[in-house]
Amino acid sequence: MADIDIYAIIGDPISHSKSPDMHNAGFKELGVDAVYTRLAADSAKQALKTAKLLGINGLNITSPFKEEMFFSVDEIHESAEVGAVNTVIKRNGKWIGYNTDVYGIQKALEANNIDVSGMTACVLGAGGAAKAAVHVLRTKGADVTIVNRTIEKAEKLALEYQCKFCSIDNLQGIIPNCDLILSCINTDMRIIPEDLLKKNMIIFESNYAHKTALLQSAEKLGCKIITGEQWLIFQGIKAFELFTGKSISYKIFKKAINPDKTKKRNIALIGFMGSGKTTIAKEMKKLREMNIFDVDNEIVKETNKTIDEIFKTKGESEFRRLEHKKITQVKDLQHMIIDCGGGIVLDECNIQLLKENCLVFLLIASPETIIERIKDDNSRPLVNCKDKKARIQEILTNRLKLYLRAADVIIDTDERTPEQIAKRIIYENNKTC
Ligand code: S3P
Repeated sequence: MADIDIYAIIGDPISHSKSPDMHNAGFKELGVDAVYTRLAADSAKQALKTAKLLGINGLNITSPFKEEMFFSVDEIHESAEVGAVNTVIKRNGKWIGYNTDVYGIQKALEANNIDVSGMTACVLGAGGAAKAAVHVLRTKGADVTIVNRTIEKAEKLALEYQCKFCSIDNLQGIIPNCDLILSCINTDMRIIPEDLLKKNMIIFESNYAHKTALLQSAEKLGCKIITGEQWLIFQGIKAFELFTGKSISYKIFKKAINPDKTKKRNIALIGFMGSGKTTIAKEMKKLREMNIFDVDNEIVKETNKTIDEIFKTKGESEFRRLEHKKITQVKDLQHMIIDCGGGIVLDECNIQLLKENCLVFLLIASPETIIERIKDDNSRPLVNCKDKKARIQEILTNRLKLYLRAADVIIDTDERTPEQIAKRIIYENNKTC
């Protein structure tokens, strides 16, 4: 386990998330020794398993896992009684589920001086975020209609909060009478025809990653807009408080949200020996026409020596120098998979260079899996010793913090096929902007 507090955001997709930007800036501002990253999980259950493996202290949860997380934690805090969990904290060995979306929505409305009492509102969606939205609007006295593609889900939620529901094919009778439309749909698809919208409506768009069709229409018509970024920041402030016991200002989180939407040109795979980097790189190459820049191979080609020979004859420091030299070449590459050696993170400069034009994926596996994968392989000088297991555990512990700080997205390779992992990485890479 790393000697640092670890937090992560989980979801599918997840690479777009700005939560790491906010929380890491908060830690820096307040001198908290912690790291916040992204975890590309396939389910809430799987995320909790990975969280245990890494010694994660807390999670934030985004679509589509907020409702599954409600059923996966050990205890529910009263804030999550809406039926959705967006924050999980480990306390005394138990996962406790909280909801800070409710707070986030309330604060975003307040910040815009909007009192919803007596308003006619429409909530798009009936998932985890929508549950929090309906809760806030109903508690504050709005008349709410829930619109969802799966009508049964809308009906169930409507019944719980004594409000109306409606199918997305039947919006003409609902939308023109609305004062407020709160969209909790995780897509930028157009659901509401533009001609149903009016200038005097308030549009609250939860999606902060895209300028959705709804947002574009709202801007065109001159509607009052509440952005998903405001919701994101306020829910994050509350989660930060739960994680650290400290308050962080809106200004710090706002400033940290990186508006840069430039797509990174390459994908870098980092991780411990035996975490599957080379296997996954090959699988990705098969799925997509990307070539591989294998850092170890490049060193072997250049020196005409095996890695083991370099370590034996020139020592580790010479190997690290050669490794760094290869990483300086990454800036000239495009559309490549950079398959890095496990020790790449030991030099902080390597990470800075990689991050400049790569989306960095950290592959992880349990120590048992790693041992199984590399136990008969003698080509790795660092673990060529009697007690391989103890050596692996020792290096893993020393490096975990460095890996976590370097990663844009973490992906657990246990119980997933190389094809599944490769597909997820490509998908996440496409979702960055
Ligand atoms: C190393 C990992 C190896 C290779 C060298 C050092 C490390 O690469 O670069 O043996 O320090 O972890 P793989 O991670 O591809 O095994």
